[in-house]
Amino acid sequence: MHLLIRAAISLLLIVITAACGTTATPPPITLVPAGERPPSRFTDPELIEGEYLYNLACGHCHGYELQGQLAASIPQTELLGMHIVPPHDETGHTWMHPDQLLIRAIREGIPNPLQQYPMPAFGDAYSDAQINAILRYIRFFWTEEQREHNRRVTEQWAAIDQQFASTESATSEASP
Ligand code: HEC
Repeated sequence: MHLLIRAAISLLLIVITAACGTTATPPPITLVPAGERPPSRFTDPELIEGEYLYNLACGHCHGYELQGQLAASIPQTELLGMHIVPPHDETGHTWMHPDQLLIRAIREGIPNPLQQYPMPAFGDAYSDAQINAILRYIRFFWTEEQREHNRRVTEQWAAIDQQFASTESATSEASP
């Protein structure tokens, strides 16, 4: 008897969940054949490539307008205790980081404490030139001040790298 009641409750829950799922109708998806794609707003080939690669590999998570995770799905992600997908436009924090860290995040991914990779590791899927093109496209969405900040911290990072490289080579030269 108990089993029957449990089964009935489970069934009811499934029906309720299914009903909830149907209340939010997803927006219609229109597939545009390759030849009929609207032309890029850019003329610079590197920006066109950056836009293309971003839309191919990043847009479905970070937003096609770089606006970050779809607002409707944020509460559910937070409820699970997970980080949301940050925007890359001027409202986000991507511009605060030096390029060296951004490139590392793209190549190595960002693990969460459960060792899942919500930000996937792209490894060697893209060349340095392709990653630079994606970053250049992302920078297009920042303010001039944000671009300047990113330039400054990138230079500082490079200077520190340089300093460590020369200290290391000096130490290895000094050792027998
Ligand atoms: C499967 C979804 C997904 C895809 C695809 C994805 N990302 Fe992410 N990305 C995330 C999540 C989630 C985070 C936040 C991770 C965290 O904070 O723990 C993130 C964080 C980042 C960060 C660090 C945070 C910041 O804004 O500085 C960068 C940079 C980044 N992603 C770039 C990219 C680029 C470039 C691509 C495409 C080549 C890409 N991501 C594709 C989910 C994704």
